Amino acid sequence: MKHFLQFKDFTREEFEYLFERTRLIKAMFKAYTIYHPLKDRMLAMVFEKQSTRTRVSFEAGIHQLGGSSINLTTGETQLGRGEPIEDVARVISRMVDLVMIRTFDQSIIERFAAYSRVPVINGLTNQYHPCQILADVFTYIEHRGSITGKTVAWIGDGNNMCSTWLQAAAIFDFRLHVAAPEGYAVNTSLIAPHELPHLTTFADPMEAARNADLVTTDVWTSMGFESETDERKRDFVDFQVDAEMMSVARHDALFMHCLPAHRGEEVSAEVLEGPQSVVWDEAENRLHAQKALMEYLILGQVAQH
Ligand code: CP
Ligand code: NVA
Repeated sequence: MKHFLQFKDFTREEFEYLFERTRLIKAMFKAYTIYHPLKDRMLAMVFEKQSTRTRVSFEAGIHQLGGSSINLTTGETQLGRGEPIEDVARVISRMVDLVMIRTFDQSIIERFAAYSRVPVINGLTNQYHPCQILADVFTYIEHRGSITGKTVAWIGDGNNMCSTWLQAAAIFDFRLHVAAPEGYAVNTSLIAPHELPHLTTFADPMEAARNADLVTTDVWTSMGFESETDERKRDFVDFQVDAEMMSVARHDALFMHCLPAHRGEEVSAEVLEGPQSVVWDEAENRLHAQKALMEYLILGQVAQH
């Protein structure tokens, strides 16, 4: 049984298989072809933080594959009254086929998975957001071909997205340039030795973006850090992706953002809405990529059709 708790839980070959499936599943969706490989299968979603894209893409996705879902939130379940995650895992996983969890510390999802009878998907933790990077790498390839050998510039908080990009850099063999304000660097305790050569850090975000093939950023204040919002607005003021920053990247560079975006903070409205931005494709691809992921976790590799 496999889980998808961190991006590096899968090999490059597995991602290549998933991208192949994503392309096929997306094409079937666009052609209104009914495809129900997960008929009668049940996905439980556990949200300890808010969500729009993750909730809709998983719920719509499992339905489109013939299955259904249950949405659980902390406040409406016994989790909110302190039921141990190990107990919740043992109960839920006897009743459903797959679990997706969005929570705080990565250790919570690791503990859940250790006690689960069914595959577990990380729908975002404080440390990682592997489903988003799955969609992002797929989106890059869809627009520009192979990401191997390319340069991805991460501007802003060295957060869960940034740490996941670094895992992807080692798997797909590309460079990750990171420019974060002092005190917000990528969490070095999460970096494996073989990932380090893929990372270059910059004090100046313009230098990080120079000649990049992809420029990407994220909110200055991630979920769970709201009490630091005012301080972060001051600390991140020089870290906005704007037209000037995009102009030093490669002429065909793409812009990505996992969304939700704050125009005028981490990205200018001009860049977010501009011709290099692929943020809406990126968001849509969450649906297709996670359908491939759910199919793989439940059925394993299927014969291509
Ligand atoms: N990008 C992303 O995960 O969005 P949501 O928080 O809306 O799920
Ligand atoms: N880094 C952000 C991503 C939101 C999808 C957060 O954790 O809130």
